[in-house]
Amino acid sequence: MAKKFARITLDPDFQISAVDNRIYGSFIEHLGRAVYTGIYQPEHPSADEEGFRRDVLDLVREIGVPIVRYPGGNFVSNFYWEDSVGPVAERPRRLELAWRSTEPNLVGVNEFASWCKKAGSEMMMAVNLGTRGIEAACNLLEYCNHPSGSKYSDLRISHGVKNPHNIKVWCLGNEMDGPWQTGHKTAWEYGRLADETAKAMRQIDPEIQLVVCGSSNTGMATYPQWEATVLEEAYDHVDYISLHTYYGNRFNDTANFLAQSDDMDRFIKTIISTCDFVKAKKRAKKEMMLSFDEWNVWFHSNSQSDDTMQNRPWAVAPSLLEDRYNFEDALLVGLMLITLLKHSDRVRMACLAQLVNVIAPIMTEKDGPAWKQTIFYPYLHASKYGRGIALHTAQRSSRHDTMDFTGVTDVESTAVWNQEQEELTIFAVNRDLEEDIVLESDVKGFPGYRLAEHLVLEHDDVKAENGPERQVVLPQNAESRNELSGGLLKTRLAKASWNVIRLKKEKGTL
Ligand code: AHR
Repeated sequence: MAKKFARITLDPDFQISAVDNRIYGSFIEHLGRAVYTGIYQPEHPSADEEGFRRDVLDLVREIGVPIVRYPGGNFVSNFYWEDSVGPVAERPRRLELAWRSTEPNLVGVNEFASWCKKAGSEMMMAVNLGTRGIEAACNLLEYCNHPSGSKYSDLRISHGVKNPHNIKVWCLGNEMDGPWQTGHKTAWEYGRLADETAKAMRQIDPEIQLVVCGSSNTGMATYPQWEATVLEEAYDHVDYISLHTYYGNRFNDTANFLAQSDDMDRFIKTIISTCDFVKAKKRAKKEMMLSFDEWNVWFHSNSQSDDTMQNRPWAVAPSLLEDRYNFEDALLVGLMLITLLKHSDRVRMACLAQLVNVIAPIMTEKDGPAWKQTIFYPYLHASKYGRGIALHTAQRSSRHDTMDFTGVTDVESTAVWNQEQEELTIFAVNRDLEEDIVLESDVKGFPGYRLAEHLVLEHDDVKAENGPERQVVLPQNAESRNELSGGLLKTRLAKASWNVIRLKKEKGTL
């Protein structure tokens, strides 16, 4: 059998793009226990004066989440924002149609804006283009961003919020191609509505950035014609098109499961081509950017959640979508992060969906602590060390085939150069399940750079999980697996492992 190998060449001149830090964004939806008993639980011992859990805030700050999408997701298509503001005692309880729960409206637009400040995150707001339209979207924008002297800005001030929130990024609805969406539309119907809503919103605040809905996933029958039609209607007035994808290991085939980041790569390439086709057709100057604002592994909790929604509807904050992640899920999340970085010239925002309790890296016990799922770690590492300039790596790797994919690289990797800190970080996943593979990195383009750290996430059991009491999937130091000489770094990547190899320029070297 041919020897397995992986090689990359790193040079400061091989630049993909400066990474927009917003690709490390996340998402909080009014869904399950994301908000209630997730970020907000006034009776919890760690709660602050506003009822927000400090233990959760600490973990969010540890990751460094630059932007958080809110309030949905499917939830937004039946969201009455006016119910979520003003005196809490006067806010109505609402039937929430997407998840068949009861929304108590204890946390709304202003509370969430305050949470974002505490978390150090920017807020990405979605408007309801399901049951509502231009008017409600404009009123919400006026409420949030207009300083004062108008009906809705003065309403905000009367609610005790003097300064506008100045929310920059706005999503024009959510997954409007999906028949499950309340107020689902055809591509043309949605494209027209999105365009008119965008135009009106820009009249109120010309500084906002707008995200139009792409397909819910590549399996939709309307994909990718949906994107072409929507963009033909709305290209001139929007800045980003959204992409969503979730993967699962439904047939318990780990090799095939880990190959799914290749599908994400293909998805991104298709959407770039579609955007550029419409750009050419319209003779437009503007380049459409991509917002991958929902991505993750999601499948573990499906039947449990379906059962709750069907048989025990209308609860407040029921346990829904509480996927318990294992080690192989963390590997795929790492691979997906690498894929996003490889496209950082066009993917300018991305949201790991979601952040707390609902398909999330952070979980909470109602009567106990907040804790880290396996997927917490690759997300943390990428957000912490993946800021700077993404580099082309001229990657070569031995390959394998899986049930659904051919020519899958054994090692998938990328690199980010932080010029200011004089740090170079290689992210690499060995997706071979049997063999360690040596990654050879030519770093002659970075003279004076020395190994600073090698973090590895590995485990004998790909199904190993973390829990509130036990963190069994934890990053370890693996510096001893590296040899650097003559500008060639050789790193042993353990079979099935996520690796963060950090180099730093030695002080005093040229
Ligand atoms: O993130 C969970 C759900 O997945 C979102 O509400 C929806 O947009 C997507 O289908």
